[in-house]
Amino acid sequence: MTTPVRDQVQHVFDRCRPLTGGAVADYIPELATVDPDQFGLAATVLSGETAGFGDVDTLFTLQSVSKPFAYALALELRGFDAVDAHIDVEPSGEAFNQFSLDPLTGHPRNAMINAGAITATSLLPGDADEATPALLDYLGRFVGHPIMLDEKVFRSESETGHRNRAIAHLLRSVDVLEGEPDDVLDTYFRQCSALVSTRDLSLMAATLANGGVQPLTGEVLMPPLVLRRVLSVMATCGLYDGAGDWLTNVGLPAKSGVSGAILAVLPGRVGAAVWSPRLNEHGNSVRGVAAFRMLSDEFGLHVFEVHRETADVRPGGER
Ligand code: DON
Repeated sequence: MTTPVRDQVQHVFDRCRPLTGGAVADYIPELATVDPDQFGLAATVLSGETAGFGDVDTLFTLQSVSKPFAYALALELRGFDAVDAHIDVEPSGEAFNQFSLDPLTGHPRNAMINAGAITATSLLPGDADEATPALLDYLGRFVGHPIMLDEKVFRSESETGHRNRAIAHLLRSVDVLEGEPDDVLDTYFRQCSALVSTRDLSLMAATLANGGVQPLTGEVLMPPLVLRRVLSVMATCGLYDGAGDWLTNVGLPAKSGVSGAILAVLPGRVGAAVWSPRLNEHGNSVRGVAAFRMLSDEFGLHVFEVHRETADVRPGGER
């Protein structure tokens, strides 16, 4: 990565550091114990080279950023027909923890809200003893090292996650959920408590930007059609009821989590991640949203911004 690009990313970091608005998530009690001032920002190009600033190596829990990866693994292991028979691909415009079932299809509206994400996890083959290690192994291949869990966060969410238990039982009552709610939630709460750093997340984003190929290991982690599906759902649903504002102003497929993480992808160019625990009213990191807005503006990252090389499509489909 050239020095001017690094400098520009650092400039964005410096400008976002003074932002102290928002509040740390406390509905999972253990999440509220984090130092709210922490802030990491990283961008990774397709060679795997990362420019990172601030607390880029501090570990935090993945939370909802695990959802696109669980969805991808379900699509890969069970196939599109099986997954689409349970989860739709429509933005909900609702909060992440909404009791959301489409009145016509009876399915959760998408795999980024909890109802759809819990369903996606239920579609992973086997019970929690089989599904959890398979999913953690999959996540580990994106970051290039084994994934550890934050056992305190896991226990904290498992003990207090009554709303997710209610959602899982609702899904089971209408035969959307495969398996037993408590067993599925065991895997779901564990995937949410997977520990990563901002640097890890940036590499995960770069893998998605790089056609599903992990830049450092060369391993294909998402086949093209699974990647296309996952990025499409991230673009339309990744930031919940803040998704429209995000797509309009940042314009990148992305996923946020209540630990304060946001991962975003510009296909074919770059992956990036921000972590800072204070959240806005939609449950998205305040500094994260601000930083991505600035990065998108400064580097012209919005997917609907036409650059000369992409506009230069010649007749007959040649480029
Ligand atoms: O299911 C939950 O409530 C959490 N483990 C994850 C929610 C989450 O990260 C929503 N993101 N903004």
